[in-house]
Amino acid sequence: MSQKSLKKERGPAILILDFGSQYSELIARRIRETNVFSLVVSNCISIDEIADINPKGIILSGGPNSVYDQASPKCDVEIFNLGIPILGICYGMQLMVKELGGSVTPAIKKAEYGRAPINIDLESDLLCDVKDKSIMWMSHGDSINSLPQGFNKIAHTENTLHAAISNNSNKLFGVQFHPEVIHSEFGMQVIKNFVHSISNCAADWTTNTFLEETIPQIREQVGNKKVLLALSGGVDSSTLAFLLSKAIGENLTCMFIDQGFMRKGEPEFLMEFFDKKFHIKVEYINARERFIKKLKGIIDPEEKRKIIGREFIRVFEEESNRLGPFEYLAQGTLYPDVIESAGTNIDPKTGDRIAVKIKSHHNVGGLPKDLQFKLVEPLRKLFKDEVRKLGSALGLPDEIIKRHPFPGPGLAIRILGEVTDEKLNCLRDADWIVRDEIKKAGLYNDIWQAFAVLLPVKTVGVMGDKRTYAWPLVIRCVSSEDGMTADWSKIPFEILTRISNRIVNEVVQVNRVVYDITSKPPGTIEWE
Ligand code: XMP
Repeated sequence: MSQKSLKKERGPAILILDFGSQYSELIARRIRETNVFSLVVSNCISIDEIADINPKGIILSGGPNSVYDQASPKCDVEIFNLGIPILGICYGMQLMVKELGGSVTPAIKKAEYGRAPINIDLESDLLCDVKDKSIMWMSHGDSINSLPQGFNKIAHTENTLHAAISNNSNKLFGVQFHPEVIHSEFGMQVIKNFVHSISNCAADWTTNTFLEETIPQIREQVGNKKVLLALSGGVDSSTLAFLLSKAIGENLTCMFIDQGFMRKGEPEFLMEFFDKKFHIKVEYINARERFIKKLKGIIDPEEKRKIIGREFIRVFEEESNRLGPFEYLAQGTLYPDVIESAGTNIDPKTGDRIAVKIKSHHNVGGLPKDLQFKLVEPLRKLFKDEVRKLGSALGLPDEIIKRHPFPGPGLAIRILGEVTDEKLNCLRDADWIVRDEIKKAGLYNDIWQAFAVLLPVKTVGVMGDKRTYAWPLVIRCVSSEDGMTADWSKIPFEILTRISNRIVNEVVQVNRVVYDITSKPPGTIEWE
């Protein structure tokens, strides 16, 4: 992105300094839920850089260290003299206390983890409308022993004397609990108090303002040059297609590469929806034969992924040359992709971690970084739920917005062992039945992913008077927040029965259905 267009980008109203907490991203999400724009930046950000951004409030995140560890992360102490309201959470509060002359010691009785009722000791702006004795989520070893001058204790718990502190005149606050986690009953109230009443942030981060700001930025960035977008039909690339079409119209070309591993009816739906209904130009590339040929005899899952990834890039390069030239490539990079590889090198201007590392297996089906295009990435500041809202506002149907995640290599990694046309057709039919029954039962939106997996062995069965020898099929339904951990879904037996009956009756090559009852960890969501 050019410096020119960067200058016009909205700066964060709340800056979150990251001290290595697993929750830094969650804090940013919670603040965005109050319609305030926030970004996570490195704890090493300089005072000049903060002054340049000029946020209305600063949050110091939690972190795994003890403030007295030699290598514990710090921030410039001048931050406390800027006159900008600051909220320290857990480690962030302990650091503030230590730097301002108070002291921190290991927890008096014991480390406190989990839910704890807080007792409010003193009225304050931070805990305004927080119910006394309500539950907050604690997770800490060290505790504050003595407060710096000007600070008051405003709440305590059974094990923590200083569960919340405030220095009202300097607008410095701290909490030992985690207001950002869902288990903190009035956590969101604490965040709202800090963001709205204490920091005076306007609630102006909305889908409408995003569109008003982003569309001119895209136009300014790409001018009248041609933009290419690899459309997959997922929520990110679909939202991007709608956004870019609104911004640059005919100068956008979408390319949909059909590897042959999509679910039943998906390629047809995609072309019908984008091309015919919304007149967004989509070049359909039928590459089914190329992909299946390359996978002949391949059994190893990693090799399968690599072959699919390589072939995708080859097809993409050939076809973009044929259709081009294009000056820009549009990518559906989201904010968590940008900040995913936790580290301290975050560009304070853009909020990007400098060494961006995306989980390697999720790159399959993506494009390499060294393609000869300039990038347009207008979603790079958004979380997934914000992209869904944007997509919805732009007119995408629930079918796309609420679609379960689907891996880039598609059904090829849900057929164990060699992928053949016969197995693909079989899995496609069975997968369709699983999703159809889950939708009919009204469970689709409560489940993170529901799908079928085909196993490359045959088992004996009996149908009518005939002995059968056919493939078993696995049904996998999981609940999850983010795909990193997951639990198997407790689907009612009647629905499992219906799915099983339909599959063995309607899909001839399958004579047995099993349900996967493994959580992640130790299992993964996909079988590969
Ligand atoms: P696992 O199987 O690692 O999957 O538990 C976690 C989540 O990631 C999805 N997944 C992928 N998504 N490209 C993607 O875009 C991929 O290659 C890929 N592989 C797995 C998986 O469906 C689950 O939601």
